[in-house]
Amino acid sequence: MSWLTHQRQGESGEASALQTRGVVITNAWRYDLRLWLGNLLSGGKLQTLRNMTADLAELRSGETVLDVGCGTGALALVACERIGAAGRMVGIDPSPQMIASARRKAKRAKRAIDFQLGVIEHLPFSDQSCDAVMATMMMHQLPDDLQRQGLSEIARILKPGGRVVVVDTKRPDGQHQGQSAQPVRTLPWESSLQDQPQLLKEVGFSQIEAGDTGFQFRGFEIGFVRARKS
Ligand SMILES: C[S@@+](CC[C@H](N)C(=O)[O-])C[C@H]1O[C@@H](n2cnc3c(N)ncnc32)[C@H](O)[C@@H]1O
Repeated sequence: MSWLTHQRQGESGEASALQTRGVVITNAWRYDLRLWLGNLLSGGKLQTLRNMTADLAELRSGETVLDVGCGTGALALVACERIGAAGRMVGIDPSPQMIASARRKAKRAKRAIDFQLGVIEHLPFSDQSCDAVMATMMMHQLPDDLQRQGLSEIARILKPGGRVVVVDTKRPDGQHQGQSAQPVRTLPWESSLQDQPQLLKEVGFSQIEAGDTGFQFRGFEIGFVRARKS
């Protein structure tokens, strides 16, 4: 395993995570418990944030939508409702444990969501085949150059008029790139949501908007960036 490969062993010998330099989460059970508790203690705020993300992505019936770094699939379930049975909902994550948990959730909810092992750096879509891509709380898991590579992949798979919505933590006001910006303090990279508009511009997006969600994670404001492919 290279020094840049931030992977942890599955707790009970499950298939190993896909190779990536992003931070892969393998304890799906604990992740889900935290989300569930977080939603409960915040009076349903997490679910409100998921609905807001789906609104920002302007999902419509029949569309093809990707949730990249989907974790245990909670956002994909919300998005799936918006695009209906005529749509195609795909969620990818390098963690077999996260994907297994997401598949169980979709099965329980009787929703046909295609949860696959995958990484943002090689999206399993052909060129211009996707209407919308959502990336929530996952960009901060990626080193800076991988964020750019991932956004470039998103630009490749989106149809003209397609939308990408990135929701993530923001560097506190007054701090600059290079100062601690991450909710997970052990991460060696320093970019944050405020750097996404520039990266999106560099990979070819033109209509780019940024804003606040009104939510926080570990004391960091959560914001959004939305871009549309021309
Ligand atoms: C903090 S979780 C967020 C999960 C989900 N999007 C949510 O909002 O609950 C970040 C996810 O990104 C995944 N991840 C790490 N590296 C990745 C990569 N290269 N491509 C796609 N996902 C990745 C992790 O395995 C993890 O499930």
